[in-house]
Amino acid sequence: MRTVLISGGRGLVGRSLSKLLKQKGYIVYKLTRRPKKSSHIYWNPEKQTIESKHLSEVDVIINLAGSGIADKKWSSDRKTDLINSRINSIQFLKSVSEKMPKLKYFISASGINCYGYNGPHEKTENDPYGDDFLSVLVKDWELASSSFEDVCPVAKLRIAMVIDHKGGALKKLLRPVKLGVGSPLASGKQYVPWIHIDDLCRMFLYCIENDISGTYNAANGYITNRELMKTITKKMRKPFFFPAVPKSILNLLLGEMATMLTESLKVSNEKIRKIGFQFKYANFDSAITEIVKK
Ligand SMILES: NC(=O)c1ccc[n+]([C@@H]2O[C@H](COP(=O)([O-])OP(=O)(O)OC[C@H]3O[C@@H](n4cnc5c(N)ncnc54)[C@H](OP(=O)(O)O)[C@@H]3O)[C@@H](O)[C@H]2O)c1
Repeated sequence: MRTVLISGGRGLVGRSLSKLLKQKGYIVYKLTRRPKKSSHIYWNPEKQTIESKHLSEVDVIINLAGSGIADKKWSSDRKTDLINSRINSIQFLKSVSEKMPKLKYFISASGINCYGYNGPHEKTENDPYGDDFLSVLVKDWELASSSFEDVCPVAKLRIAMVIDHKGGALKKLLRPVKLGVGSPLASGKQYVPWIHIDDLCRMFLYCIENDISGTYNAANGYITNRELMKTITKKMRKPFFFPAVPKSILNLLLGEMATMLTESLKVSNEKIRKIGFQFKYANFDSAITEIVKK
């Protein structure tokens, strides 16, 4: 039986992932700044503190910690928080890894928004990083993860927009749809990479069980924003005739963060499929049907 430590494990991905890992027989502990259960281990990377209980049992670290990219407008203070909550927490984890003599594997969340936008072709893991804020953040985040390579193998999953009924970006997109005012954003022609929560959790498990190292795009596929909104409204039996929300309004409301909604990104998932991972959901329609059912 293997013991897994998930930093940021109380968040959206961590909750589903720990459920899957426990079903598969893993022992799961979560690092959190707000411990509520005996399986929670207190840490605070900012204050450089961590409870030492269970650390000596850890075989695998799954790093999910980081403040929400789309939670608030990107002021310069917010940008600092987005960077520090990811990079400093990995650096802190690395500094306490000597308390984990059994550690054999480190796998970290990373972001699909690392290639820049609007390129003509599907981005593969061999494509260079972009030079916008998110691309640079992901580059530094991945570099921090790589620091574990002198301890154990390291994998990084470049996660697309996670489709889950419990929260995240989809929940925000569903709000206007539920009110009957769902519409495309900006031109609606921009592509959005997405991944179903079950496939993302299965991918983490697949990497752990097959000792996979390296960097992988974690996306079932990509879909235009218009098609995404249209599919959601159809599944929820809501109207879809409102005019698109203009890009200028999104820029005004969200500032630089609007790029995540208005700019286009196509990514390839061939690399992970080539090493044997099989996605459960072949297209957005089947993924969203399952979510809406819940
Ligand atoms: N969900 C998506 O669509 C998506 C897409 C691409 C990448 N990702 C990445 O995947 C990871 C997990 O995503 P998620 O959706 O599960 O995120 P989430 O629900 O926001 O959870 C992230 C967790 O990180 C911890 N955290 C936040 N700020 C922190 C700080 N300053 N120091 C230490 N821990 C901090 C929090 O744990 P405590 O409050 O319990 O300490 C929180 O529960 C994140 O790094 C995210 O950027 C997610």
